[in-house]
Amino acid sequence: MIALVILISGRGSNMASLLAAANAGELPARIVGVISCRPDAQGLQTAALRGVPTRVVDYRLFAERQQFDAALAEAIDGFAPDLVVLAGFMRILGGDFVRHYGGRLINIHPSLLPAFPGLHTHRRALAEGVRIHGCSVHFVTPDLDHGPIIIQAAVPVLDQDDEAALAARVLVQEHRVYPLAVRWFAEGRLRLQDGRVQLDSPQSGEAVLIAPQLAAN
Ligand code: GRF
Repeated sequence: MIALVILISGRGSNMASLLAAANAGELPARIVGVISCRPDAQGLQTAALRGVPTRVVDYRLFAERQQFDAALAEAIDGFAPDLVVLAGFMRILGGDFVRHYGGRLINIHPSLLPAFPGLHTHRRALAEGVRIHGCSVHFVTPDLDHGPIIIQAAVPVLDQDDEAALAARVLVQEHRVYPLAVRWFAEGRLRLQDGRVQLDSPQSGEAVLIAPQLAAN
């Protein structure tokens, strides 16, 4: 069993999907702590209700990002995790922080990276008229929403989609791929080596792309 710390800023549905997978025995991992950068994050209540220790490191209390990063690292290291999982964590982390957790810090982003890093990915995908959109799980590097990609899931963009409909279709896939990526790491099959993702003995198609049936979901 590896120990996980999950960092959130808001709703926490990806965190909840990881908790559910762990509780169902699908993840050889224990979620030892959930940390939010906002005291009002809804996900904090979800975690507490399930008996997971929570902490708040309120970014507004720090004048400099480096001070925030240091306080956050202290809170994380207090839980001694093997893997740090960013799940809707909305602060940009500095290079020193990212290097400190090199190879054991992962993120989920709601686009098929490297397309649409940053915010409002679904709105931008609609504005660009892309026909395929999705989500990516990646190891974190000092560049925002960039880094070796572990797994992606694609969904179709439908003519009648608005931002909410597209976001909901992608979110269903986020809740599938994140537990899968964490499971691979927990099983010792997934690592970052020389800046590249290594997955031991992948089943056919497993690591490359989950392409759910190209139909409305
Ligand atoms: C997700 O779409 C995630 O990919 C993005 O922010 C959203 C967070 O949702 N980074 P939740 O807090 O996990 O519900």
